[in-house]
Amino acid sequence: MTCTTLDSWAKLRDHQAELATTSVRELFERDPARFERLSRRLDLGRGAAPMLLDFAKQRATPETVALLCALAREVGLEAHRDRMFAGERVNSTEGRAVLHVALRERSRRPVHVEGADVMPDVRAALEHMRRASDAVRSGAHRGYTGKRIEHVVNIGIGGSDLGPLMVVEALEPYRLGGPKVHFVSNVDGTHIARTLSELDPETTLFLVASKTFTTQETLENARTARAWFLRTAQKEIHIARHFFALSTNAKEVQEFGISLENMFVFWDWVGGRYSLWSSIGLSIALAVGFDRFEELLEGAHVVDEHFRTAPLEDNLPALLGLFGVWNTNFWGCGCHAVLPYDQTLHRLPAYLQQADMESNGKGVRADGGVVGCDTGPALFGEPGTNGQHAFYQLIHQGTRVIPCDFLIAANSHNPVGRHHRLLLANVLAQAEALMRGKTEAEARAELERAGVRGAELDKLAKHKSFAGSRPSTTILYDRLDPRTLGALIALYEHKIFVMGSIWGINSFDQWGVELGKQLAGRILPELEPGAPAGDHDASTAGLIAELQLRLSGEDKSA
Ligand code: F6P
Repeated sequence: MTCTTLDSWAKLRDHQAELATTSVRELFERDPARFERLSRRLDLGRGAAPMLLDFAKQRATPETVALLCALAREVGLEAHRDRMFAGERVNSTEGRAVLHVALRERSRRPVHVEGADVMPDVRAALEHMRRASDAVRSGAHRGYTGKRIEHVVNIGIGGSDLGPLMVVEALEPYRLGGPKVHFVSNVDGTHIARTLSELDPETTLFLVASKTFTTQETLENARTARAWFLRTAQKEIHIARHFFALSTNAKEVQEFGISLENMFVFWDWVGGRYSLWSSIGLSIALAVGFDRFEELLEGAHVVDEHFRTAPLEDNLPALLGLFGVWNTNFWGCGCHAVLPYDQTLHRLPAYLQQADMESNGKGVRADGGVVGCDTGPALFGEPGTNGQHAFYQLIHQGTRVIPCDFLIAANSHNPVGRHHRLLLANVLAQAEALMRGKTEAEARAELERAGVRGAELDKLAKHKSFAGSRPSTTILYDRLDPRTLGALIALYEHKIFVMGSIWGINSFDQWGVELGKQLAGRILPELEPGAPAGDHDASTAGLIAELQLRLSGEDKSA
C-alpha cells in the first residue's frame, strides 16, 4: 500500500498545513529549549567526542518528530531494517541480500545469508587486503624491477570509484608516506592519458575495480593501462606484480589476465554504491594503511548498531531520513544540498549523488505498484565556502526551497592562522541566515540607517528581503578521522534506506541506467566511417552522421 494512503501521512499533511503559517524564527522565539529538543548526539565510542546532529533549523517541532516516527512505524520501517540485517533478500528485483553492514561487523555475531554465516569469508577477505596493503606499504611487494610501489591507480567507475575516491581524499592527512592513489573512471581517454603521463610503469600498481568486471568504461581503461605497462615491461609475467582485480567475477578477472591470487573478492550481496567497505576499498587501505581502514569500518559499525537498536525518536539515520521525507513530500522540495565546511570532504557530494540518486531515483514500489508521491531529490553540493560564492544565492532567495546539510568539523587538520574560525563563522552564518531570513521591514530599517530614501528605498527593500525558514540540518563532529568518517558515511547510507523504506521502493537496484548502456553498445559500431545508420530518432541519427564526418580516425594508445 502506498505511504500516501496511511493515517500517519494524513496527520503529517494536517500538521504541515498548521506549521506553514509559522516561521522557524517564531518557533525559536516560542520555545527557548528548541535546540535541546531537536538535536541529538551520537556516541562514537573509544573516548571520541560525540557527533551532534541539529535539526532545530528544520520547519518542524517535536510533534513533527513524533508524527514522522508514527509514519515510520506504520510503514514497518523497523521490520524492514531487521530484514536487511538478517540477510533477507530485500533487493527483491535482483533477488539479493543487502549486507554491506556485514563488511563492518566488528563483534563476533554471525551474519547469515541463506543459512550460511558469511563472516568467515568477510574476515578472510579483510585479511587478504591487510596482507597486500602491508606488503605494498612496507616495500615487501615491489615492482618488476625491484623498485617500491609509489603510485596506485584505481580503475573503476560509479561505486567502484566514487566511494574510495571520496575516502582517500578525506583521509589524506593519514597517508603518512603511503603511495599516492589516483583514480581513473571516465572512458574519455583524457582521463587515463593524463593520469598515466605522470607515472612510471616500474613504480605503479593498478587496481581494476569492478563488481561485475564487465563494465565497458573500466575494462577499456584497464586494457589501455595494461598496454601502456607492457610497452615498458615487455613481458606478461610482470603483470602479476602490477595489476590487482577487485571483483566478484573470477571468470572475467582471469580472462582479463589477472590471476586469482591477485583477485580481491566480495559478493553479490554488496551493492556497488555500498562497496567501499569491501575489497573495493583496497585503495583506501593502500593509501592510509589497514589499521586506519579498520577504524573506518569501526565507525560505520557504531552507526549500524545504533540504527539497529535505538528507538526511532533518537535514531539518527532514521531522523535524517524522516526529515528527508518531510521536506520532499510535505514541503515539496525537489533538491537537497550537501555542504561540507571541510575541504577534506570535497568529494562527499559527488559520492552521495550516486549513493542517494541511484538508490532512490525510482517511481515504482518494490511490490510493483506506483509510489504515488515524489521520491529521491536531486542532490548537489560543494565544500564551503566555495558554494557561497556560486549557488547559494538561489538557496537564499530562489523560488524553490532547497534543504541543506551543513557539515562542520570543530577542529581542522590544518589549523593555519584564522582560517578555521573564519570557516566556522561562515557556516554558522549561512545556516542562521537561511533560517532567519530578513523581513521587508528589517531591510527598510537597514537601508534607512544607511541613508537610502524614497523610491530607491522602496525598490531595494524588496530585493534585500529574504523569506527565511529555509531548512537545514547541521552535522558537527570533532575532527574528520577515519572513525568519524566511517560513521558519517553509514549515517547517510541508512538515511537513504529509511527514505526508500517509507516510499516502499527497492533502494538497491538500478535498472534505469541499463537502457543507456544497451544503446551505447548499439551505437558504437555505427560511429565507424561508412557504417550503416541504425534505427534512431532523427536527432540521434543526425548527430551520428555529423560525427562520422568529423571523427578524425586518429585514435592512438595512451
Ligand atoms: O552504472 C551503474 C553501475 O552498475 C553502478 O551501480 C556501479 O557502481 C557501476 O555501474 C560500476 O559497476 P561495476 O563495479 O560492476 O564495474
